[in-house]
Amino acid sequence: MTFVGKLRLGVNIDHVATVRNARGGDVPDPVRAAVLAEEAGADGITAHLREDRRHIRDEDIDALMARLTVPLNFEMAATEEMQEIALRHKPHAVCIVPEKREERTTEGGLEVAGDEKRLADYIAPLREAGCRVSIFIGAERAQIEAAARIGAEVIELHTGAYCDAHAEGDIATRDREFEALREMATVAHDLGLEVHAGHGLTYDTVMPIAALPEVMELNIGHFLIGEAIFTGLKPAIAEMRALMEKARA
Ligand code: PXP
Repeated sequence: MTFVGKLRLGVNIDHVATVRNARGGDVPDPVRAAVLAEEAGADGITAHLREDRRHIRDEDIDALMARLTVPLNFEMAATEEMQEIALRHKPHAVCIVPEKREERTTEGGLEVAGDEKRLADYIAPLREAGCRVSIFIGAERAQIEAAARIGAEVIELHTGAYCDAHAEGDIATRDREFEALREMATVAHDLGLEVHAGHGLTYDTVMPIAALPEVMELNIGHFLIGEAIFTGLKPAIAEMRALMEKARA
């Protein structure tokens, strides 16, 4: 099997901020977690500044931009406010995600196909500012083709449905979801898009995704932060990284 390149791990630190915000103070500090993740070998840090600021806050983004030595992948909804923040900070990467206030997490991928003109205009200044623009989408051909047409350089495939089916023991659905991810990774790669994947990945679900030759980056958060309670963040990241490398070997 020929892999497109080295598989990177982006560690999402949002849920350190979720725990902090539960008490409203300054601890635990997501920036401290990001620095630890860097020391543990994360290739990048991912943070989602949601419109309702339920976890990451504006000052976290300021601090991450100032402190990190690895790239920041800034997840955000396609709103004017977020575009202005991204253009101010110019992070290495911007990942556009759909956002609904009532959802617990990013439940589905972005609907690109029906909104191409707006999204093309929206991402153009981000690209001009030097940000690598990624679009978080489901494993659907129409969305991937639309992402290529609007000028995105990267797509991140939503692995949530595959992971949920695995957790529920619904093997038929899991395998069907995996097959769609596998096929759409090749479709995206053939269109010249860099392929990333993430959402809901755990030690149990990461290896088949890591083994997809076109996938170049995984973004993983909730499971790693939960596991860190038991083992510490560095060992949790090291274990995830070891599984990714085993899958790639
Ligand atoms: N990638 C994207 C685009 C996301 O929105 C999220 C969740 O914020 C993740 C990856 C990480 O998902 P999880 O926290 O379930 O590992």
